Amino acid sequence: MHSYVEGVRARGKTVGLVPTMGALHAGHMSLVRASQAECDETVATIFVNPTQFAPHEDLNKYPRTFSADLEKLAEHGVAAVFAPTNEEIYPAEFSTYVEPPEVSRSLEGDCRPGHFRGVATIVLKLFNVAPADVAFFGQKDFQQSLVIRHMVKDLNVPITIRVCPIVRESDGLAMSSRNVYLSSEERGRALALSRALNVAKGMVDQGERNISKLETAMRDELLTGGVTTIEYACVVDAESLASLAAVDGTAVALIAARVGSTRLIDNCLLT
Ligand code: PAF
Repeated sequence: MHSYVEGVRARGKTVGLVPTMGALHAGHMSLVRASQAECDETVATIFVNPTQFAPHEDLNKYPRTFSADLEKLAEHGVAAVFAPTNEEIYPAEFSTYVEPPEVSRSLEGDCRPGHFRGVATIVLKLFNVAPADVAFFGQKDFQQSLVIRHMVKDLNVPITIRVCPIVRESDGLAMSSRNVYLSSEERGRALALSRALNVAKGMVDQGERNISKLETAMRDELLTGGVTTIEYACVVDAESLASLAAVDGTAVALIAARVGSTRLIDNCLLT
């Protein structure tokens, strides 16, 4: 992959990189399209990264649809796919990890200790393997995209990061590889996440600036919709994820909740 990407760039062409954990859906394909719109060639990676899963999380049951993924990427004109084994990425002697930036500490960092250390480490490794011009990530993993942007800046990684809009099902559910875990009853309840975000957005559009009113309204919508295991439902500064007293500038509403045994995240920018 490294010589492939270097070869393309040596011919004066630009390369876009779409890192994924496979189980590809329309959200991933929108990243591929964004890359193709901006770069001459697009390459992708498929690797279910064990170091970003805690021992009790869903690493073993994470959906794996490798041949279908390869077909989709080929159909969409992706030039090359890097799909390493665990041993290639983490050989027995592997012992170096990236200490993730400050912005990783709260929210997902609280709920999933060690997650962003694994994400930052694999993403930096993938950037080294595939030294592309631009890398594409989804806004659904909002905090992840901030962690990656900060890491790239702090460590002078020569790559541009693009964050692409969330792709939703027609009923509002944010696309996620984990949606396949939901039963049809749970899928119905999961819609409360996007509804709660819309409630907050509607309130801000109507002039509400008070954070605790927005957060209470989001929680009420989740609870009414039968989503009772809420890990967080908050409105914070969209750049630093710091707490705010009031919406002023760009804020982001972020939710993490469990529907049955499935952990879902979603978010919405409030400008
Ligand atoms: O967003 C994902 O799919 C993963 O966290 C990533 C960025 C591919 C790293 O494993």
